[in-house]
Amino acid sequence: MKKEIPLLYEISDIEKDGYQLPYSEITQDYTISSLPKEWHRDELYLPNVSEVEVARHFYNLSTLNYGVETGMYPLGSCTMKYNPKMNEYIASLDGFQKTHPLQADNTVSGNLFLLFDLEDMFCEVTGMDAFTLSPAAGAHGEYAGILLMRKYFEDRGELHKRNTILIPESAHGTNPASAVAAGFLVEEIRSTSTGEVDLDSLREKLNDNVAGIMLTNPNTTGMFESNIKEIAHLLHENGSLLYYDGANLNAILGIARPGDMGFDIVHLNIHKTFSTPHGGGGPGAGPVGVKEHLIPYLPEPVIGIEDDGLDLQDADIEEKLFRMNRLEKSIGRIRLTDSSFTVLVKAYAYMLTLGEENIQKIAEHAVLNANYIKSMLKDTLHSPVNGYCMHECVLSASSLPNGITALDISKRLMDYGFHPPTNYFPLIIPEALMIEPTETETKQEMDRFIHAMKAIVSEANENPAILKNAPINTPIRRTDDVKAAKDLDIAYRKS
Ligand SMILES: Cc1ncc(COP(=O)(O)O)c(C=O)c1O
Repeated sequence: MKKEIPLLYEISDIEKDGYQLPYSEITQDYTISSLPKEWHRDELYLPNVSEVEVARHFYNLSTLNYGVETGMYPLGSCTMKYNPKMNEYIASLDGFQKTHPLQADNTVSGNLFLLFDLEDMFCEVTGMDAFTLSPAAGAHGEYAGILLMRKYFEDRGELHKRNTILIPESAHGTNPASAVAAGFLVEEIRSTSTGEVDLDSLREKLNDNVAGIMLTNPNTTGMFESNIKEIAHLLHENGSLLYYDGANLNAILGIARPGDMGFDIVHLNIHKTFSTPHGGGGPGAGPVGVKEHLIPYLPEPVIGIEDDGLDLQDADIEEKLFRMNRLEKSIGRIRLTDSSFTVLVKAYAYMLTLGEENIQKIAEHAVLNANYIKSMLKDTLHSPVNGYCMHECVLSASSLPNGITALDISKRLMDYGFHPPTNYFPLIIPEALMIEPTETETKQEMDRFIHAMKAIVSEANENPAILKNAPINTPIRRTDDVKAAKDLDIAYRKS
């Protein structure tokens, strides 16, 4: 059933009342003087609505939402997997939820221990030597990681020449954005037909100006970089560093480690791999791990004890931990609070409940599921990358008749009750549909998805108009995606 849900402003009436602010006894004018004068206002226009209207409004909006609890959410590269409720419950416990980021260290020693132990677990699964838990997302981790690279070369007196970061043409857009934001130039490396780094192109671009390379493995076509050892050798021989974009770690967790592949810096997307839902751009976390030679540059604060002989078995370790600031070579603080704490609590709970013996099942099932979908759709849609994939597969709508595009398929999938896969990424594959079922999807749900994809491709042949007009059964029909991105206006103005 289609629902028209008016804005609260549209049902606002001066006669209605849901809540009244208590009378204020503050008479002094506390207007923040640094706020530009033109932003000061005497009246704030808020809707007048009753409590039941507010409750219904937000409930009805929630019924329009599509989440991982509605059905399969195959958004490739994003790893939209189901996160166990147990971890939410643990993160909601008072000792975690009701502590303040600025509380004195000796009043939150248990929380500090959790973070300290979590860093150790991340080192174990990635093969790195130390972690910072500060970054708030993958892209923030990338930026922090590239700043580490910058500081490393500055310290060695090489920054004046090492001004370039190499990035494959298949990379996620945040990679070049982070490199440029951190003050580097970007050089693109070609990909082979299987989406891997083209070694000839890499050799051509390698010179004294190269500070490092940013790679994700498996890469964005869902394939493992089989030459990763050779790539690491070439970069290190050139005095350059390797940055690992951890967005695709789900595919190798517990089986292979970026640290063993030769990466010097790694970020993890907690909201992809370690049990925090994505949502509205946050909250998330993007911890960054480094090899020993980069430890001095890690952002503040670092959790530790002054004495270097750390022993996790030490019964008193909790009491000895504290947050250390003003480290001599640190890149400094990268956010106001120390970390997205409860997001990290969920990751800790997730790792502990899985245990060392189960963690690799994440990768095994994620890879199995993606290959199941790829093989079931091989006669339905063109598969531009041959062979087994890792945790996601890229299919292409380029061979469909009647001008049907990847976007048309995705819009029609909504009518069949699914969230669309990632479209037009990676850019090197025309009409790309990047599908990542994740390890938490059941065979029944994947079969439903496969059935829907086959039905839509039949429609592309027999009734293309329906695809061009899709979605048909959603409250909002086909939106102007470009307008939404380029001409965003989210403020309600009373006419
Ligand atoms: C390959 C890759 N790198 C980096 C990112 C950026 O991560 P975040 O969204 O956590 O900032 C993403 C996000 O989807 C990604 O898929």
